[in-house]
Amino acid sequence: MIRLAPSILSADFSRLGEAVELLEEAGADWIHLDIMDGHYVPNMTIGPPAIAALKARTRLPLDVHLMVDHPGFFIPLFHEAGADWISIHVEASTHLHRDITLIRQLGAKAGIVLNPATPIHLLNDILREVDYVLVMSVNPGFGGQTFIDSTHQKIRRLKSWISGQKLSIPIEVDGGVNLDNAASLIQDGAEILVVGAAIFKAPDPRHVISRLKEIMAGANPS
Ligand code: DX5
Ligand code: ZN
Repeated sequence: MIRLAPSILSADFSRLGEAVELLEEAGADWIHLDIMDGHYVPNMTIGPPAIAALKARTRLPLDVHLMVDHPGFFIPLFHEAGADWISIHVEASTHLHRDITLIRQLGAKAGIVLNPATPIHLLNDILREVDYVLVMSVNPGFGGQTFIDSTHQKIRRLKSWISGQKLSIPIEVDGGVNLDNAASLIQDGAEILVVGAAIFKAPDPRHVISRLKEIMAGANPS
């Protein structure tokens, strides 16, 4: 089942509660929340208090993408605030097995994130411990960037590796996803689409969401 996880990074930050309600009304499956520490990435966004406030505005699962150094410190704080799915960067964690295990022990779903140039084989000894893999199709830190084309082939390679091990771990793709590349990303093997600027910078975000849902319903996953 293909899921739509809109990112609110490009929404009006003075009205995030309304953005989240709009996404739920329009039929999003998850809310993708980008957490940035100004250190791992050159940007800062929101923290646990904002997550807790947004949790109260929606029934949708909160998909929290931690773009932070030392994610082990932040995992309990964001779980406590209401994160349901928590992804951490393989490049940012020195104790990856411990951090992924902690997410699951707390009762959330554990995701692992690969930056555009980070090779898939870094997942060799952790893949079986995660609930999803987030493949970055832009360099993390900002919304509205251009999709990195080589991500199509990276997702296809990752999908065939996961299927080859008889695992059913969904691939989430994040960055520059839009109406033009969504169908081919699903064909590549992506099952969770993060879409930010293509929704919130559009004149009619609801229309983009319904078009994305049509594409998702009609696409034939690999
Ligand atoms: C970038 C974030 C992405 C971003 C996606 O660091 O991880 O989730 O918000 O937004 P768009 O779709 O605008 O690239
Ligand atoms: Zn993200």
